[in-house]
Amino acid sequence: MAASLNLENCMNIPDSFEGYSTKMFRIPKHYENYIDKVLMPAGMIQDRIAKLATDIFNDMMDQDEIHISAVCVLKGGYKFFSELLDSLNTLNTTSGRSVPISVDFIKVKSYVDTASTGEVQIVGMANLEESLKGRNVLIVEDMIDTGRTMQKLLKTMQKYQPKTLKVACLMRKRTPLSDGYAPDYVGFEIPDKFLIGYALDYNEYFRDLAHICTINQAGIEKFKSKS
Ligand code: IMP
Ligand code: MG
Repeated sequence: MAASLNLENCMNIPDSFEGYSTKMFRIPKHYENYIDKVLMPAGMIQDRIAKLATDIFNDMMDQDEIHISAVCVLKGGYKFFSELLDSLNTLNTTSGRSVPISVDFIKVKSYVDTASTGEVQIVGMANLEESLKGRNVLIVEDMIDTGRTMQKLLKTMQKYQPKTLKVACLMRKRTPLSDGYAPDYVGFEIPDKFLIGYALDYNEYFRDLAHICTINQAGIEKFKSKS
């Protein structure tokens, strides 16, 4: 068992929690035979994201020059990103304070030649220097598993000298393979299980599922990679 994050500001889904029966939720017909349990219902995810947005907003207000450059890590981060920004926009219009937000969308590619340097290729940002230099950058990612992807992404982004570089992550797995990396903002700390839904995929399936769920054996077989 990996060490828990043990953060006050992180919601813990314990290993003993198996999840809710799919019968309690609306599940698309094309997936109903392939889901084991609903681990995190969409409503609960939204409520937690609203609080993360408040934490991020309040922290940003402490900066002297406020402007968030929000960077969505595709594809898995898109639902989290969308809800988080909606929630920040609500704060911008209702709290009597506001922070301008710009958005970028990236994909991260680990490629063999740079593996030894621990860096990644960032795809989708036309001018990295212009987008990152001197900015308050907030990376928005779905999941920290081993932490390797994020550590490499941070190393690559640091080269472009952002003013601040923070990470908001919806979930962090308790895994013995963790390199110990802990993001600045974490929605949930979760059991070491493979999860689908809410933009997380299994071979590109299940992104169109509202809730975060576990997959059953039939699903693993049905949507196995053909190659
Ligand atoms: P890491 O480099 O091991 O931390 O892996 C992080 C990446 O793997 C995330 O950005 C996810 O896209 C993907 N990933 C890790 N665990 C899961 C999962 O349970 N379901 C879907 N994708 C996952
Ligand atoms: Mg991802």
